[in-house]
Amino acid sequence: MSAPMTVNIGLCGLGTVGQGVWKHISANRADLESRVGVKLNLARVAVRNPRKARAVAIPATKLTTDPLAIANDPDIQIVCELMGGTTLARQVTLAALRRGKIVVSANKALICKHGAEIFAAAQKHGGHFFFEASVAGGIPIIKALREGLVANRFPRIYGILNGTCNYILTQMEDRDAPYASVLADAKRLGYAEADESLDVDGWDTAHKASVLAWLAHGVWVKTDDMIVEGISRITPADFKNAVTLGFGIKLLAVITRDLARNELCVRVHPTLLPEGNVIANVSGVFNAISVTGDVVGTTLYSGRGAGQDATASAVIGDIADAAALLKHGKGAHLIGEATAPARDESRLAPPEKIHCRYYLRLTVKDQPGVLARVASVMAKHHVSIASVIQNPAERPGAASLVLTTHESNERAMGATLKRLRGLASVLDDPLLLRIGDFND
Ligand SMILES: NC(=O)c1ccc[n+]([C@@H]2O[C@H](COP(=O)([O-])OP(=O)(O)OC[C@H]3O[C@@H](n4cnc5c(N)ncnc54)[C@H](OP(=O)(O)O)[C@@H]3O)[C@@H](O)[C@H]2O)c1
Repeated sequence: MSAPMTVNIGLCGLGTVGQGVWKHISANRADLESRVGVKLNLARVAVRNPRKARAVAIPATKLTTDPLAIANDPDIQIVCELMGGTTLARQVTLAALRRGKIVVSANKALICKHGAEIFAAAQKHGGHFFFEASVAGGIPIIKALREGLVANRFPRIYGILNGTCNYILTQMEDRDAPYASVLADAKRLGYAEADESLDVDGWDTAHKASVLAWLAHGVWVKTDDMIVEGISRITPADFKNAVTLGFGIKLLAVITRDLARNELCVRVHPTLLPEGNVIANVSGVFNAISVTGDVVGTTLYSGRGAGQDATASAVIGDIADAAALLKHGKGAHLIGEATAPARDESRLAPPEKIHCRYYLRLTVKDQPGVLARVASVMAKHHVSIASVIQNPAERPGAASLVLTTHESNERAMGATLKRLRGLASVLDDPLLLRIGDFND
């Protein structure tokens, strides 16, 4: 028997994810190598600060401060870009792909911004780009969409893609606590970054939605072309109202495609989900995704969406695929990995085509006739009211009005909001949430 082939791996970045990859490959090496049939050699590691104390001990001879040296090293076959950011990460990724290497990435921001260029470079130079860890951490959603569900077109994909937001929303609901205090706790516990905006304003979810939309529909949707709304304006009262109405509140990415019109819509916003919906009941830092295919029906995925171990699991899965590719050549398990999925080009849906029911919370002067004025504005824009809840507001002389609508659309609701903001009896900026009438 000939000796097994050795595959040399370079890690660019040895932070949370990189250390997880090092730790788990080192701990499970024998099992992994026997499953993949090659020897996995963690050959070089790039960091910014080689003197930093780390949980894993790396021989000094393997360390460099130059990730491009790893990307260009002819002995390295698999380059893992685990640094984050979009400038150096792009350079490293492109340099490795131009040398025909396999790049493994966890970097959704990079893919969202430079995905078209990266996949074109992979195709042109015979390189490969694997990115399972970029969406939903340990959940193998990329593999599911690309391989297991390849028979399908996807009228709807939606889910929780950001564990930080789900943790904050779950805590707000469970502890009846305001956003700011839960966010402060989340930072203290390490569930939220010092600069939380990427997570709580919805951008991290939008980056992941962009990756999923491309995989499912072959279209790069920039975050500028999406509705992206975060969670910071939600209050404990909204959770109480939602429960009264039979809903929970989750920050969702929603990717829908009208298969008949070939219109695609990608949006990220807090959403009222029926309380019986499985995803409405996914708590804490967990992620969950519902994928509806035109052949398979609806399938559900949930698990840890971030963190060292879950993300390392996805990166190591890609490393194993990359090693198998190096050993056997391209196989059925790598369908479409380097090129854009062969789908028809969809158009982005105009706002009036994005329709759903809405939840509208207004703080108004507690005076007679206010509800009638609000109702008249809504009627003018053909928005029909389905229910009204009135509660005392925190400030004296004010009331909180919560209205739900029958099905309407983004254009009509946008015009309604504009008029409502101009009413003297409406005291604060209204909060508009979308209702996701998804039963599965
Ligand atoms: N953390 C998660 O749970 C998670 C989940 C999914 C995806 N991701 C993605 O995975 C990637 C890495 O995330 P992370 O949390 O592991 O980040 P991190 O903890 O901040 O680690 C980044 C690593 O990159 C190194 N680095 C940064 N700039 C460098 C430079 N100019 N030259 C050389 N090395 C450099 C850092 O070196 P030093 O250690 O010397 O500073 C550090 O080792 C990101 O794209 C992130 O979005 C993370």
